[in-house]
Amino acid sequence: MLEIQNLTKRYGKFLAVNELNLHVGKGEIFGFVGPNGAGKTTTMRVVCGLLKATSGDVFVDGISAIKSPSSIKRKVGYVPDFFGVYDNLKVTEYMEFYGSLYGIEGSDMETITDGLLELVNLTDKKDFYVDTLSRGMKQRLCVARALIHDPELLVLDEPNSGLDPRARFEMKEVLKNLGSMGKTIIISSHILPELAEMCSSIGIMEKGRLIASGKVEEIMEKSFGSRPIHIKTFNDSQASEEEAHDNLNRLLMEQPNVKRVSFTEDEAVVTFTGSEEESAKLLKCLVSSGMLISDFYREKEDLESLFLEITGGDGNEEKEA
Ligand SMILES: Nc1ncnc2c1ncn2[C@@H]1O[C@H](COP(=O)(O)OP(=O)(O)O)[C@@H](O)[C@H]1O
Ligand SMILES: [Mg+2]
Repeated sequence: MLEIQNLTKRYGKFLAVNELNLHVGKGEIFGFVGPNGAGKTTTMRVVCGLLKATSGDVFVDGISAIKSPSSIKRKVGYVPDFFGVYDNLKVTEYMEFYGSLYGIEGSDMETITDGLLELVNLTDKKDFYVDTLSRGMKQRLCVARALIHDPELLVLDEPNSGLDPRARFEMKEVLKNLGSMGKTIIISSHILPELAEMCSSIGIMEKGRLIASGKVEEIMEKSFGSRPIHIKTFNDSQASEEEAHDNLNRLLMEQPNVKRVSFTEDEAVVTFTGSEEESAKLLKCLVSSGMLISDFYREKEDLESLFLEITGGDGNEEKEA
């Protein structure tokens, strides 16, 4: 559906996007994560045919954004990271204005507007002035507007920024609905956990490069291979606590992917680099050795620290290369 090939964008001498390659399949919800200044907006604007690449190319449904920017604009809907000022424009008039840019008029426009306002949960705001809407409502109106020409790819630049939790939730619901309608969606954010919840795949961008990309679970698995496992055993034998620890320690250290074992007062903490499947096998092995396991759990992934670990930054600073 979307194919980005060796995309490079310079602003003068400044390298904003550096040899970026990416494939997003039809119906996927892809999340672009990266700190401010990483090059997300630049990449998205090239994908939408709004900005010319320095080199490389972008294909949407096989059509080149570089060679045919106007055909691309018909295939892509764009929700920018800012919302303009619309004095004295009602919600329906706003939709009509954008519809007219695509030659949609009259009763067609009415039908499309009704459907889209319902989709973004703004039907009851139809006759309100745009400027009186809350920020979350404006964002959703922007999504409705971006869908007017029924694009196959929807590109949303930080749609959740500045929204309160309730508004974020509503935005998420809208995007979920779009996903189930089979639209391909690209969405950017500098907050990873937020994206991971609604995206099928993510790409982590830093300083113009894609430094990791793939299915959300794969990325987490790779980066969180070392999440420790906590094990509690029940000692029903004659052995002392110390002997029991020694036995457990010996058995654990013989297993694949176990790097280190330490004991706290009542549990063993195992540094483990295996997958979920391998940790399940570890448990099976302990149980079949006759040990009584009363608790066995792996620490949950902490997406925020994953992000920091991968990008090596705090995710908020403007970074200039
Ligand atoms: N029009 C421009 N002229 C010069 N530099 C720009 C321009 N737009 C963006 N940049 C720079 O390019 C880098 C990437 O910006 P951007 O794509 O907006 O990143 P992001 O959306 O990830 O925050 C930033 O360092 C930014 O300052
Ligand atoms: Mg941006």
